Amino acid sequence: MGPTPISGLCVLEDFQSLEPWIRETVPFGTDSFGPDFPRGTEYRKHWEVAQAARALAAGGALTSSSEVIGIGAGNEPTVFWLTNHVRRVFATDLYLDEGWEESANTRMLTDPRADWFGPWNPRKLVSVHMDGRNLRFEDDSFDGAFSSSSIEHFGELDDVESAVREAFRVLKPGGVFSVSTEFRLAGPPPGLPGILMFDRSELQSVVIDAAPWELVDPIRWDPPGNDVPIVSFDAAAATVRAHVERFGDLYWSALDWPEYPHIVLSHGQLAWTSVHLALRKPDIPDN
Ligand SMILES: C[S@@+](CC[C@H](N)C(=O)[O-])C[C@H]1O[C@@H](n2cnc3c(N)ncnc32)[C@H](O)[C@@H]1O
Repeated sequence: MGPTPISGLCVLEDFQSLEPWIRETVPFGTDSFGPDFPRGTEYRKHWEVAQAARALAAGGALTSSSEVIGIGAGNEPTVFWLTNHVRRVFATDLYLDEGWEESANTRMLTDPRADWFGPWNPRKLVSVHMDGRNLRFEDDSFDGAFSSSSIEHFGELDDVESAVREAFRVLKPGGVFSVSTEFRLAGPPPGLPGILMFDRSELQSVVIDAAPWELVDPIRWDPPGNDVPIVSFDAAAATVRAHVERFGDLYWSALDWPEYPHIVLSHGQLAWTSVHLALRKPDIPDN
């Protein structure tokens, strides 16, 4: 495989080249997982965060005048890390709804500092309860947008398409959209109850073709190698439950999996991993 693309499926080989990005965006990694982090504790969510940071950097959205929106942003590292690099971060999610307390809790609206352990600037974060399918922002508002592990929970394929169109609408021309979601490696659509999993053609139609996006870089469609262990979804869900029981809903506080790399999951006939796409709203040509 060539140099690590920003758009593609999560593969183990990426963790080596993304190491500086992962260590930068998950600043508690070495304390929680040891000095070699992320070597030996490869987790696809850390890959997603690093790819979001790379996409926003490649799209020119990491400047002191940039405004960036997170869609279904919960309390993920990207939100906090970005406050060190841009003018303002708008974290949007259904923070007042029940059901996602480990990521989208009301604390993000009132006391977000309780959700983060790294360096960040609370004065640059605006957290808002908002549905990603109907963003209450004007057209052409943001320099960058990101959405990780979220659109697959927005409902049906139509809901995903609406959310992607909304991201396009609120981005300024030239703005970049980083989106990570579930890629179905095996098994039938649509995925699991409440979790859509996309194959290549579904991603093409509901994300890439939902609006007149340009790709920031060519997509690497190569799947993870067969040597990567396949993690049982039921076992992973049990680990999350035990973690939340121990640490409360501080999901990001060193969620440690029994087995690494934690990249490919399976349930029944289904197997899946993460895919990240970096999309750009075309610039208006100069006359
Ligand atoms: C798996 S969590 C991911 C949260 C965060 N992006 C992260 O990576 O930790 C899925 C998130 O999608 C949010 N969500 C579900 N439906 C939504 C919608 N219609 N609009 C905005 N957020 C939504 C949930 O509240 C939840 O925070």
